[in-house]
Amino acid sequence: DPKALIIPAAGSGSRMRKETPKPYLMLEGCTILERTISAFIPLASLRQVVVATSEALLEDTRDLLKTILPDHIDGLAVVGGAERQHSIRNALDQIADEAELVLVHDAVRPFVEHRHIEACCQAASEVGAALLGVPSRDTIKHLDDQHMVRETPPRSQMWQAQTPQIFKKELLTEAYRRAEEEDFTATDDASLIERMGHPVKMVEGGRMNIKLTYPVDLELASLLIAKNRK
Ligand code: CTP
Ligand code: MG
Repeated sequence: DPKALIIPAAGSGSRMRKETPKPYLMLEGCTILERTISAFIPLASLRQVVVATSEALLEDTRDLLKTILPDHIDGLAVVGGAERQHSIRNALDQIADEAELVLVHDAVRPFVEHRHIEACCQAASEVGAALLGVPSRDTIKHLDDQHMVRETPPRSQMWQAQTPQIFKKELLTEAYRRAEEEDFTATDDASLIERMGHPVKMVEGGRMNIKLTYPVDLELASLLIAKNRK
């Protein structure tokens, strides 16, 4: 089935504390965004990549897509929004009619593995919605506003959500329509589907599929790249 990939890359990267937005930082010779998109190029039936970015980086992003995408994949760059969810909505508006599955993947997760993307696509074809994640290594505490602990959910049931998160296009479109109508925002896309009462499948991904968020993550990333080269 024909697939489209949405890459939100319009964030400012406040926690990274760098002048350049995270996806456009260089990592051992090429940008994080280039590494991330490249991980999806081998995916069967991928027909379209839409990147949401800032106005200022629109042209650079178009050039990158032209350079790295093969002829059978259409590349598009759109201006993102104030929240990740708005960036994805803008990208979703540009998805071609033929697409059956839509993959959403953070621009700053360059270490996702092909086998996990495939497994997640398979689950999304069966269930309608699926995401990658890993069992939480740490016990998770649910706090109140004063940082007092309210409860401790059993660790074995806590998983960390990653991307890609993959959906049947109609389902994702409907979820976005409803979220907008009801002014609901969340930090991931699966939440919007869960909210509709629709099942979402968790697929176990890899420990290396980290979201580059803090300065120390760049040091980790350099180590991972060196290790993968060996
Ligand atoms: N993102 C986006 N549009 C926004 C906010 C975030 O497209 N308005 C993208 C980021 O560029 C990133 C992904 O969503 O690729 C995951 O978000 P996050 O890691 O939180 O990145 P930032 O929002 O840029 O970082 P921070 O929260 O530290 O400011
Ligand atoms: Mg953010």
